[in-house]
Amino acid sequence: MTDAPAPALCVVVPCYNEALNVAPMVAALDAALTGLAWEVVFVDDDSPDGTADTVRRIARTDPRVRCLRRIGRRGLSSAVIEGALSSSADFIAVIDGDLQHDETRLPAMLHKVEDGADIAIGSRHVGDGDAAGLASPLRERLSATGISLAQMLARAPINDPMSGFFLLRRTRFEALAHRLNGQGFKILLDLLLAAPQPLTIVEVPYQFRPRTAGESKLDILVLVQFAGLLIDKSLGGVLPLRFLAFALVGAFGMLVNLLVTSAARRLGLDFGTAQTIGTIIAMIANFELNNRLTYRTMRLRGGGYWRGLVLFMLVCGLGAIANIGIARALYHDNTAGLAASAAGAAIGVVWNYAVSATLVWRA
Ligand code: GDD
Ligand code: MN
Repeated sequence: MTDAPAPALCVVVPCYNEALNVAPMVAALDAALTGLAWEVVFVDDDSPDGTADTVRRIARTDPRVRCLRRIGRRGLSSAVIEGALSSSADFIAVIDGDLQHDETRLPAMLHKVEDGADIAIGSRHVGDGDAAGLASPLRERLSATGISLAQMLARAPINDPMSGFFLLRRTRFEALAHRLNGQGFKILLDLLLAAPQPLTIVEVPYQFRPRTAGESKLDILVLVQFAGLLIDKSLGGVLPLRFLAFALVGAFGMLVNLLVTSAARRLGLDFGTAQTIGTIIAMIANFELNNRLTYRTMRLRGGGYWRGLVLFMLVCGLGAIANIGIARALYHDNTAGLAASAAGAAIGVVWNYAVSATLVWRA
């Protein structure tokens, strides 16, 4: 036994390039959480700005501060999951590391959960909550669309399902952890959708502050991942999300192939050459897209990138041969042309997926 018991509250702070915000964040938590036994875990994805070093410097003199550094990984949701699972505290709070969320609401949120709520959510859309910190009309529009979609899926009435600011018991988090999608930004929505029974939610209003240092990491890929999360959850996990993304990229590749082939034909190349060029370019485009989207979390770089590209082209080349072979054989057997092509394509995509998931992007 040591004389330092596990803290009651663990504040998980996902960070990417937030070096300038770390010290103000610790000071803000210190002021907001007086009288509570708390710790803060900054989960940093190896930010180039030295966020992890900044956290460690503070941790040297303040044992409440911890650094969880991940290398070769990116993602707000997965960072939060790992930060939460690293703690022994009874309660887990999640808050952004850029001071946009209002940490002074944390004690109120803690009381709500102590009083029996499954989860307390900092909400920009109830009472005197406010989303002034949303930077542009476009962001407001995107935010509104996302909210409607999320409200449809979450089976609990909730005003701000897109919030990234919430608090719940660690045991509850852990019970849901194995059912989380873990991709993208929407860890709260992920948790709500993972619950077998709707959670009892209490929303605590707060004012979303503008960012003062650093910049937002929300980009188009994050929005694609959000769409992926919704598709994944609405299909009830029947088809793995990765497979859907892979198939979508594959369909896009067929389009690229068609366009390049016909362009090459128009330049006067013979059909065989034109199709070979079309196929190669489509494969490279597909590899690039899969590497950036489908397998974003295990993205290949450097030497691994080239090795992956060559393997991917070999795998898909075999897939294409199988695809054409099956389509021909079926066509020969009097199956209608379109059905034969569809069967060929379906078997081709399953083959490509299965083999590249095990050989190219090894989990
Ligand atoms: N570890 C890690 N890895 N942290 C990340 C990553 C990542 O890949 N991407 C973003 N973060 C951290 C940021 O450093 C910041 O502390 C927090 O996650 C939120 O990221 P922002 O880039 O500031 O997002 P935002 O302000 O556009 O949106 C946030 O606030 C909204 C309102 O609550 C997100 O939390 C949204 O999910 C939330 O709806
Ligand atoms: Mn932010």
